[in-house]
Amino acid sequence: MSIHKPVKKITTHVLIAMKRRLEKISMLTAYDYSMARILDAAGIDILLVGDSASNVMAGHETTLPITLDHMIYHAQSVVRAVDRAFVVVDLPFGSYQGNSKEALASTIRIMKESGAHAVKLEGGIEISESISRILSAGVPVMGHLGLTPQSIYKFGTYTVRAKEKAEADQLLKDVKLLEELGCFAIILEKIPASLAKRAAESVSIPVIGIGAGPDVDGQVLVTHDMLGITKDFQPRFLRRYLELFDDIKIATKQYINDVRSGDFPNENEQY
Ligand code: KIV
Repeated sequence: MSIHKPVKKITTHVLIAMKRRLEKISMLTAYDYSMARILDAAGIDILLVGDSASNVMAGHETTLPITLDHMIYHAQSVVRAVDRAFVVVDLPFGSYQGNSKEALASTIRIMKESGAHAVKLEGGIEISESISRILSAGVPVMGHLGLTPQSIYKFGTYTVRAKEKAEADQLLKDVKLLEELGCFAIILEKIPASLAKRAAESVSIPVIGIGAGPDVDGQVLVTHDMLGITKDFQPRFLRRYLELFDDIKIATKQYINDVRSGDFPNENEQY
């Protein structure tokens, strides 16, 4: 008989029930097996295989260059690591905006080839046909509104979105629309906290914020930012829990010194 209790996996139903019980949802990005294993062991609820991999893993300035093949590779690595967390994968730029059939084809590749649990798309009314088609295939969809980095060249900057009434009103309409279409959750990125609160109160599905204040149903951060690996990215909404850039640099310098001095390996570190 096994002494291990079976892990209660996170599903869309669990997440929606958490909102109902006013339990906050924790979410972080992951792009590789080793990091995903640690975050899952710590008890994270959702792992997002974000297209921010384009920035933090590949060093691109924007999220636009990452391809569907790259996203599938990262998603496969994360799915292999996870026992409990719900794994959501970003549909990358150019894989869903063109038409809804392409959106579904991209989603099917992600689901079949990676084993992930859901996809995330950026946008509201303008991509509603794609969202509906994906949902009709039985794949859970997470929405993403506010600052949508795939549209950076339309916005021009990464500053706070929806400060003006017209954009705020459209965002609230899009939040309702995404719920009506059947999305199981919505990310709101970099918008005023008061607007995010209204949005979260207006729907029964979880609203997860990044730079959207405390009055939403959960929080997401890019893992490399919150661990201090990406040193130069310092937006106001970011809380750093470690300074790994500095710590890893110190450890690496120590290793270099030990190799150069002949201190490593010692007699216990050889055969
Ligand atoms: O790609 C990503 O990391 C994201 C988060 C910022 C929500 O979409």
